[in-house]
Amino acid sequence: MAPSLGERSISGLQADRVARIRALPTAELHLHIEGTLEPELAFELAARNGIALPFDSLDDLRSRYEFTDLQSFLDLYYECMAVLRTRDDFRTLGERYVQRAFEQGVRHVEIFFDAQAHTVRGVNAEDVLDGLLDALETGRQRGMSGGLILSFLRDRPVLEAMDTLESLAHRAADLLAVGLDSAEVGYPPQLFVPVFARAKELGLHRVAHAGEEGPAEYVRDALDLLGAERIDHGVRSLEDPELIKRLRDERIPLTVCPFSNVRLAVVPDLTKHPILDLLAAGVLATVNSDDPAYFGGYLADNMAGLAEAFDLGDDVLVRLARNSVEGSFASVERKAELHALIDEWARGGGGELLG
Ligand code: HPA
Ligand code: ZN
Repeated sequence: MAPSLGERSISGLQADRVARIRALPTAELHLHIEGTLEPELAFELAARNGIALPFDSLDDLRSRYEFTDLQSFLDLYYECMAVLRTRDDFRTLGERYVQRAFEQGVRHVEIFFDAQAHTVRGVNAEDVLDGLLDALETGRQRGMSGGLILSFLRDRPVLEAMDTLESLAHRAADLLAVGLDSAEVGYPPQLFVPVFARAKELGLHRVAHAGEEGPAEYVRDALDLLGAERIDHGVRSLEDPELIKRLRDERIPLTVCPFSNVRLAVVPDLTKHPILDLLAAGVLATVNSDDPAYFGGYLADNMAGLAEAFDLGDDVLVRLARNSVEGSFASVERKAELHALIDEWARGGGGELLG
């Protein structure tokens, strides 16, 4: 019998199935904190900081969430984040994300922040860092572990990225990793070789967006030239069978973002998403939300969307959850704790969020 409207979630799954998916413990490895800025919070912070947003109302802002490609999204993303100015703003942003993510099963998170997008507006990079660390501490008190990834904007000057890294070098212990994001095509990984070499010297992990809009070659170059330990998106790797074999053999995680890929027209719709092809090829693919305020859902919403699109059973969901833990930079001990939580869910428990 078709479910009544009240029993359906936005994904179209039965409400109890969605609740169970939301209770599945996961690690979120691809999340831009600025992409969690919900329209309500954008207006709240604009008022707090006396900034005029160029939108008439929440609905007017929401009506702009129609993207044709990565750049059309980035234009709005950078425009909205102008409301973020103080340590308090970043703490609020981070805490709202932590709350929502917790409700969606996330128990470990590695958060990207775009320091340059703030420093170019006169915001102090350490205020950004400290506000986000405050939010992670709030998460830690609830049982969510995590860390921060300083992500460089590849469509801005390389020297600016290097200066940003040097300005936070004395805070390296507060960072988990560096990353590379923003407009991909035309900004190949090799530009950032010196910046990633310096990050390695500072003892930071290295990840990079590659193979979202850019070619499989950028994935290979991110691995070979930047020393990337994990690839963000990477879905276009499927165009290169040799690369796919390498990703499988070297257990290089891909942080895949299904809703993002649909909303930015990387794939035509969820039923055409290649995540199952990646899993079938033995690649350590994970599910993530990227910019959930803009793309229609948080991590478990992405899982539920896939579950509906492909009629997935618990076995595939558990595999994706385990991949997220394995692909994280969490300690061996923390990974074991997270796997134990997943075991409990797989036995039918872990349902403290149900109800
Ligand atoms: N790709 C590149 N840059 C980004 C993204 C993305 O999906 N989200 C925020 N910055
Ligand atoms: Zn991203």
